[in-house]
Amino acid sequence: MDNTFLEKYGTWAIITGASSGIGAEFARQIAAKGLNVVLIARRKQLLEALAHQLEEKYSVHTKTIEADLIKDDFHHTILDATNDLDIGLLVNNAGMNCEGHFYRGSLERNVQMLQLNTRAPFILAYEFGKRFISKGKGGIIFTSSISAFSAHPFLSHYAATKAYILSLAESMNYEFKDKNVDVLALCPGMTKSEMTKGMKDGPMLMDAPPVVETALNNLGKTAYVVPGFINKAQVFINSRILNRNGAKNLTGAMLKKILPAANKKKKK
Ligand SMILES: NC(=O)c1ccc[n+]([C@@H]2O[C@H](COP(=O)([O-])OP(=O)(O)OC[C@H]3O[C@@H](n4cnc5c(N)ncnc54)[C@H](OP(=O)(O)O)[C@@H]3O)[C@@H](O)[C@H]2O)c1
Repeated sequence: MDNTFLEKYGTWAIITGASSGIGAEFARQIAAKGLNVVLIARRKQLLEALAHQLEEKYSVHTKTIEADLIKDDFHHTILDATNDLDIGLLVNNAGMNCEGHFYRGSLERNVQMLQLNTRAPFILAYEFGKRFISKGKGGIIFTSSISAFSAHPFLSHYAATKAYILSLAESMNYEFKDKNVDVLALCPGMTKSEMTKGMKDGPMLMDAPPVVETALNNLGKTAYVVPGFINKAQVFINSRILNRNGAKNLTGAMLKKILPAANKKKKK
């Protein structure tokens, strides 16, 4: 068991979007380090099944909270349910995407994405960050994306939400470091999860375990981390070799080719 991690971020961790994909993997790896976990998402049955597995396998305590993070007052449910727990780690991971031409997704879906991908993680980071600072220890991980580093035509609004998260996490990392609170943005590229279901397997599609391992290994060491060689190369080209205009044009041409939704018209 990783006692250093437990000492720094124990005794409870909160993970949003824990019912599938990257969030469920965060729950597994954090429980393996001996922390108790609070699992949050809308699909209660999936959360309960995972909670049961984690209790059996790692002898940790778990709590599941069914919450829709798009709702205006979602945080009251979470804060009330965790008031008596010693939370030391927040993983702000839940998210959704909208891909294709700018007008393809409905306005309602786009606004929901804005609330889920930006408002919800901001509110949780604000509330738990305050507690961590007063305790003098803690950690916050945000799941951003490699799309945060440059403009992403055909993922325009999604990439903008992830750029918000990266900027927020980097600035918080600086402000919080002398308070003994570690903040990290995890910036994955394409990763196997429900979000990428149906996508062709290949070297660009990473498994969730190494993505999460990269995040947990880098919390407290850096402000953001990009898992995987291909993703690192893509970020390097887009942010160091090309100018912003060049990165936008290259990314747009590439996504038009590989995203099926980029070539479909708005649903009637
Ligand atoms: N997969 C990728 O290629 C990739 C790449 C870069 C970044 N990311 C980011 O990684 C994070 C995790 O996504 P994933 O790839 O693991 O996809 P996923 O398998 O679809 O997981 C999304 C999680 O978010 C939860 N969620 C969705 N809407 C919610 C809502 N309204 N309220 C509460 N929870 C909600 C889902 O649970 P319920 O449906 O049960 O609520 C689920 O647990 C996201 O922030 C995503 O943007 C993914």
